[in-house]
Amino acid sequence: MKLNSAFLGLLALVVSAVAAAQQPIVIKFSHVVANDTPKGKASDFFAKKAAELTKGKVKVEVYANSTLYKDKEEMEALQLGAVQMLAPSLAKFGPLGVKEFEVFDLPFIFDNYTDLHKITQGPVGRQLLAKLEPKGIKGLAYWDNGFKSFSANKPLKAPEDFKGQKMRIQSSKVLESQMRSVGAIPQVMAFSEVYQALQTGVVDGTENPHSNLYSQKMHEVQKHMTLTEHGYLGYAVITNKKFWDGLPADVRGQLEQAMKESTDYANKIAKEENDQALEKVKASGKTQVYAPTPAERMAIKKAMAKVHKEMESRIGKEVIEAVYKETGSDPSKL
Ligand code: LMR
Repeated sequence: MKLNSAFLGLLALVVSAVAAAQQPIVIKFSHVVANDTPKGKASDFFAKKAAELTKGKVKVEVYANSTLYKDKEEMEALQLGAVQMLAPSLAKFGPLGVKEFEVFDLPFIFDNYTDLHKITQGPVGRQLLAKLEPKGIKGLAYWDNGFKSFSANKPLKAPEDFKGQKMRIQSSKVLESQMRSVGAIPQVMAFSEVYQALQTGVVDGTENPHSNLYSQKMHEVQKHMTLTEHGYLGYAVITNKKFWDGLPADVRGQLEQAMKESTDYANKIAKEENDQALEKVKASGKTQVYAPTPAERMAIKKAMAKVHKEMESRIGKEVIEAVYKETGSDPSKL
């Protein structure tokens, strides 16, 4: 039998349509930290759960350690649809125009994870995520990292010790103000560049949760670290809204479930990961780790308290007050 060319053409179309239907939906998930960190582990966990719950219909490709994009580019890539998911730190939403997220950067605003979760797992957190939608971004969850320590090549025990120190910060005006409040010179820099900047003396010091410091080997190029726990660093897991809304409803539901389980996992391991990283920093013997006395910590807290008022017009008074109300503490009144 002789097959005519119209039939062969139709057959080819059907074959390619079937193949396309069997292709998994790919989610590129880009981030800037090492795999062995709370965010690295949680994004790998999400990739596994997403494959499991969608029965292979979704394939999440995780690109860790800035291998695909650095801080600033990844936000642009998400909006352009070049990647589908990110988990930037809450300190990195200012340049996008969503300044309210910088409330999380206010020094000493959270005393512990319990107070923090009143925001990230409550109505204030939900309202903040909703502010991303006009930017074409959907906020899916908050993932914890932890509380930050200062590091430098000199001991930072009192506010005066910070004077003139060039300190790397994330792209947050609140962090800029925090550093200036103690006379330090803030310098915004992408996370992927920090190790080298510390090594070559472009900056003198920085601030990090311990898992970030250790996994980037910053302790090898910082002689001193102070366990101030002066501020929080955590993440908003975000996706391109158009992409998310365009997913088949059943797949979106399965991904929501995968995200819920990954969030529980992320928030369960974060403290432990940071505690373990601190032990490893101590064991390395490369950095002198100093635990400030309550009076020393209070002196730093007092020096930085003015940042809360100073940043009121940027963040929004109502956002800051909503946080104070939930946590029951107002560190601006010291
Ligand atoms: C930083 O730039 O220091 C952090 O935001 C990195 C991260 O994603 O934890």
